[in-house]
Amino acid sequence: MTAPLVDRFGRRVDYVRISVTDRCDFRCVYCMAEEMTFVPRREILSLEEIVAVASAFTRLGVKKIRLTGGEPLVRNGILTLAERLARLEGLEELVMTTNGSRLDKLAEPLKQAGVRRVNISLDSLKPGRFKELTRTGSLDDVLRGIAAAKAAKFARIKLNAVIMRGRNDDEVLDLVRFALDNGLDLSFIEEMPLGHIEEHKRSEVFVSSAELREMITAVFPLMATTDNTGGPSRYWRVAGSECRIGFISPHSHNFCHLCNRVRVTAEGRLLLCLGNEHSCDLKAVLRDPLQGAQVLDAVITQAMDLKPERHHFSHTDEPDIVRFMNMTGG
Ligand code: 5AD
Ligand code: SF4
Repeated sequence: MTAPLVDRFGRRVDYVRISVTDRCDFRCVYCMAEEMTFVPRREILSLEEIVAVASAFTRLGVKKIRLTGGEPLVRNGILTLAERLARLEGLEELVMTTNGSRLDKLAEPLKQAGVRRVNISLDSLKPGRFKELTRTGSLDDVLRGIAAAKAAKFARIKLNAVIMRGRNDDEVLDLVRFALDNGLDLSFIEEMPLGHIEEHKRSEVFVSSAELREMITAVFPLMATTDNTGGPSRYWRVAGSECRIGFISPHSHNFCHLCNRVRVTAEGRLLLCLGNEHSCDLKAVLRDPLQGAQVLDAVITQAMDLKPERHHFSHTDEPDIVRFMNMTGG
């Protein structure tokens, strides 16, 4: 192994989120505009190129890779890719974030391929509302996907919910109940100002994690835990259950000092921070016939110097960051 990745603030980077496509079969209102222009296919990293990037990161001490999108399961060859990544030396965990729409068929093969855990987005348990929030999604498909994921026995399954005032804030307790009944973890994510959307004003629908926690503790006693998955989620346990309820609070609780991760976009741009534009073009290195693996390793190592100390998400309706989450690699 080459020297591990450390940034200017002494943070060790051992986790990479790789977006395998910017495309998605959903158009969630907080994530995308209704009409999206996607990146031309030739600009998207090939499966070979993704394997090369992942290999570089594992050579540099990365232990965990998350495949994201867009929706990773709409990418052709995703199972072969997962299989190849899961075998990389030094990698301890291959995990995935998905909208669940295709898990019904793919949960079992993904598990076989070596994916250890999955995060599934679920913002509503009401079919009509689910359609409204995802614009194109079907709750039924996702519920079947969740059932298939349970049957495939992933090490853990976590649901992600973005709560918006007046849209789905009346479903917080139902979502908790659903997670408890199904033995799943659940994280509530504060909406982040990524990409310009017209559908709603982000400042008007904002609900803080503290408010959600208050709503939940009124019914389900929550016990604070020191569980830390190395991420921005702070976890609570519900008395009498193994399930964890997490809160990702980019607005109300800054977690940047603990950051251990970087992202690679579907186009092969290495993003050093979710809330900043600092980046480095890995595709240029990958597609330069004169550059090999050593150069790739060196470029990634040097890019750590670009990692900013923290994000500065504000509460205005102008996006701080013009790229959408599907470009960023949720
Ligand atoms: N703010 C917060 N969460 C978002 N997601 C997508 N866009 C945003 C946003 N602007 C969430 C999805 C998914 C996860 C990958 O990111 O709901 O669960
Ligand atoms: Fe697709 Fe996920 Fe964005 Fe929804 S949040 S549109 S499922 S990428």
